[in-house]
Amino acid sequence: MGYSKSVYKKAADRLFEQRQLAQKQAEARREEIYSRLPRVRELEQQIALCGSEAVRTVLRGGDAAAEMAKLRDKNLALQAELRELLVSNGYDQDVLEPRYLCKKCDDTGYVEAHGRTVVCTCLKRLLTTVACEELNRTAPLKLCTFESFDTDSYSQTPDPDTGMVPRRHMEKILKYCQSYAQNFTPQSNSILMKGATGLGKTHLSLAIANEVIRRGYSVIYASAPEIFMKMEKEHFSREAADTTFDSLLDCDLLIIDDLGTEFKTAFTTAQVYNLFNSRVLQGKPLIINTNLTMAQLEREYSNRFVSRVNGAAQKLDFLGEDQRIARKQVN
Ligand SMILES: Nc1ncnc2c1ncn2[C@@H]1O[C@H](COP(=O)(O)OP(=O)(O)OP(=O)(O)O)[C@@H](O)[C@H]1O
Ligand SMILES: [Mg+2]
Ligand SMILES: [Zn+2]
Repeated sequence: MGYSKSVYKKAADRLFEQRQLAQKQAEARREEIYSRLPRVRELEQQIALCGSEAVRTVLRGGDAAAEMAKLRDKNLALQAELRELLVSNGYDQDVLEPRYLCKKCDDTGYVEAHGRTVVCTCLKRLLTTVACEELNRTAPLKLCTFESFDTDSYSQTPDPDTGMVPRRHMEKILKYCQSYAQNFTPQSNSILMKGATGLGKTHLSLAIANEVIRRGYSVIYASAPEIFMKMEKEHFSREAADTTFDSLLDCDLLIIDDLGTEFKTAFTTAQVYNLFNSRVLQGKPLIINTNLTMAQLEREYSNRFVSRVNGAAQKLDFLGEDQRIARKQVN
C-alpha cells in the first residue's frame, strides 16, 4: 500500500516519540531505583564490565573458551542477583527496561521475518489512522450525532404515493443506523442513503462515523467532489502513487457523501465503479449518500455499478421534508 510522504513522516514521527517516551520513562524509573537501592547501580556497572571484558577476550584471540565461560557464569550470577534484589523490593524484574507499546517491534515499526525486514502491524495500523485523519480534517464530524438527530420534525402525514409515514419511516432508519454503528465490523454490509436534499443523510452518516471511530475503527468521510478531484489530480500528475485511492481502500469504513455532485469525466465515472467494486470484493463496507434515484445512478454510472450496489448495500430511502426548513419552523 502506498501512502503519501507526509503520511509516512507523521506516522514515523509518532512512533519515534512513542519509543522515546518509553525510554525516558525507563530512565526515570532507573534513577528513582538507584536512589532507593544503590546496589542496583553497582550491579548494572558490573554487568556492563563483564560485557566489555568479553569483547576484549574475544579480540585477544587464541583459545578464549574457558575465559568466556567464566565471564558468562559471572554475568548470569549478577543478572540473577539484580532480578532478586528488584523483586524482593516489590519491583517487576524488568522494571529497568523500556515498556514499548508494541512488543513485536519495540516501537521501531519494523520486524524481521524470514530474513527480511518488514513493516510491523502496528506501523501499518498507524499509517491507516494518519491517512484517515488527513482525509477527515475538513469533515464536520463532531456536530452530527445520533443524540442530536430527532425525528419529531418529520411529518406524520402519509406520503400520497407510497402511503408511508415519514416520521415512522425515519425512526426506523435512525434505529437501523444506530444498530449498524454499534455492531459495526470491517465486514459489515454497505449502505446506500438516498433521498432529496436536507433529509438528514449527511447527519446520520456522520453519526455512524463518530460511533465507529469511537469504537476504534478507521473511517474516511469525504464528499464525492473532494474524493474524485483528489484522485484525478494524483492520477494525472507525475507525482508518486495514487495514495488517495489506497487509503480509500484501506480504511475500515468509507463514507462517500453527495455522490452525483462531482464533476463528471470518463475518469471519475470509472473510478466510482472501481472504488465500490474493489471494496466490495475485499468484503469491506462503504456508505454512499446521493440525491439520485436508482434509474439516475444507472444512467450516470452504468448498470454494472447499480447491480453491484443492489447486491452489497442496504438501501435507505430518506423521506419527509427538508430539515433545513422544517427545523427552522419548529425551533
Ligand atoms: N433529524 C434531524 N435532527 C436534527 N437535525 C437534522 C435532522 N436532519 C437533518 N438535520 C440537520 O439539517 C441539516 C441538513 O441535513 P443533512 O445535511 O444531513 O441533509 P442531507 O440529506 O445530507 O442533504 P443533501 O442531500 O442536501 O446533502 C443539517 O444541518 C443537519 O444537521
Ligand atoms: Mg448531505
Ligand atoms: Zn510493532
